[in-house]
Amino acid sequence: MAKRILTIVLGALFSIAAWAGGGQGGPALKQADNDLWDQASLQRGAVAFANYCQACHSIQYMRYNRIARDLGWADEQVIEKMAHGLNKPTDVVLARGNLQAIAQVLGTVPPDLSLMARLKGSDYIYSFLLGYFEKDPEKGVWDNHYLPGTAMPNVLEDQYRFATAAEREAVARDLTNFMEYVGEPIKLTRYELGWKVLLFLFLFFIIAWLLKKEYWRDVK
Ligand code: HEC
Repeated sequence: MAKRILTIVLGALFSIAAWAGGGQGGPALKQADNDLWDQASLQRGAVAFANYCQACHSIQYMRYNRIARDLGWADEQVIEKMAHGLNKPTDVVLARGNLQAIAQVLGTVPPDLSLMARLKGSDYIYSFLLGYFEKDPEKGVWDNHYLPGTAMPNVLEDQYRFATAAEREAVARDLTNFMEYVGEPIKLTRYELGWKVLLFLFLFFIIAWLLKKEYWRDVK
């Protein structure tokens, strides 16, 4: 009896573990190892997003000038690098293509990517971008290990064909980094503020300590 109960409990635990571990049982995710505090990577990611993704995807909760401010660009720079002069700094980042027309070709409306990294996780974005394989090389048909049958074409095809694995991973990492930043832009501010608060507390501690010494000199 005890053995049967143990089996049931263990069985339940394992199925919970399997469910918590991603559920659909797809291949293990690759580690993105992206670094939100690497500003150069975020800048490269933003430019790569504009070049590779923005034809189909918006990040509608972001404005160009917010990206500029967070990534260390002037307003003119972000417009030049991400929009080739086509937008105002105060514009939100919309897809360049006509989404209805794209949906007719691909069968699905490309989703807004503002919150995608928070929804799916950075490791997933990274793995998804690197997860394409050529299903039918003769017809040039690609599929994806992480989202089988996906409607999204392999937009990084040039990276698969002409770049080394390390170069391709670097592009995917920069894109993932930018996606994670877009998902929660306040993370950068919070981190910067954290240092300022710590520095303030440290300086205040020294002042308080000196003051205490000064006061107690007469008492002692
Ligand atoms: C040609 C249009 C097109 C381009 C360009 C494009 N995508 Fe997509 N993307 C799609 C479509 C369509 C979907 C919906 C896929 C589906 O549901 O199968 C999608 C879905 C996604 C998803 C969600 C995947 C999921 O698991 O639901 C992510 C993440 C994504 N795209 C990232 C990117 C990134 C990053 C780029 C640039 C490197 C990019 N896309 C470029 C069309 C595009």
